[in-house]
Amino acid sequence: MIAVEKLVKRFGKFTAVDGVSITVEPGQIHGFLGPNGAGKTTSIRMIAGLLKPDSGRIVVNGHDLAREPEAAKAALGFIPDRPFIYDKLTAGEFLRFHGGLYGMDGGDTDIRIAEMLEIFELGRWQHELVESFSHGMKQRLVMSAAFLHRPKAVLVDEPMVGLDPRGARLIKDIFRLMASRGVAILMSTHTLEVAQEMCDLISIILKGQIIAHGTVADVRAMSGTPDEELTPVFLKLTGGGGLQEIDEI
Ligand SMILES: Nc1ncnc2c1ncn2[C@@H]1O[C@H](COP(=O)(O)OP(=O)(O)O)[C@@H](O)[C@H]1O
Ligand SMILES: [Mg+2]
Repeated sequence: MIAVEKLVKRFGKFTAVDGVSITVEPGQIHGFLGPNGAGKTTSIRMIAGLLKPDSGRIVVNGHDLAREPEAAKAALGFIPDRPFIYDKLTAGEFLRFHGGLYGMDGGDTDIRIAEMLEIFELGRWQHELVESFSHGMKQRLVMSAAFLHRPKAVLVDEPMVGLDPRGARLIKDIFRLMASRGVAILMSTHTLEVAQEMCDLISIILKGQIIAHGTVADVRAMSGTPDEELTPVFLKLTGGGGLQEIDEI
């Protein structure tokens, strides 16, 4: 479970995240939607423990991130928007290294690596250097690592960017599988169709504040146009300027 309460982050005089609260229960995929610059990455980096909030509370799997950072981070997997991977490692070596960072024991790591490589369709390439991988393969490897240590909660920042339809389908199916095993997934996306298809609940952020929250149907109803697709609803809620900015990513 991820519980975020009244999260605030300022950069100088500018408030990038302004009182964000989100709860993601085990088994849920929660979509974090908003235009470019709305505060999604800043929020996710704070929940991942990479950026210190000015105020607010973050609890992961019952552990307060400020008071029990190690326990909170051990329960968390994080897939950043611009992942860094050591190119000179093979896929298998990268995952073993990751397992080591999370204190997994050798035998368990090997079993779990085999499972992740199979699920993410990377088994054939486990002995190849990462530098030879396509963008989609690298993304799947980073995701394998994020799920490797059996996190209770996973943060994903813009997972669908640059994926072909087949790669996107695979990722969607795997996230659903992981959620069905009880993982709480918080996923930022600018692709409304992705949110509509994958997310149990969504929160829309604009200028650092959550302006709409609920199921896709709830958010549609809020906009006063319940029969519409999510895209026009989102445009209406974000004052129409959102989508253009989003498309530039
Ligand atoms: N390190 C930083 N210093 C100053 N401003 C920042 C920094 N990081 C992000 N911002 C600003 O905070 C706002 C939110 O950014 P971000 O969280 O990356 O948005 P999103 O992920 O929703 O596109 C933007 O206006 C961005 O320019
Ligand atoms: Mg971002």
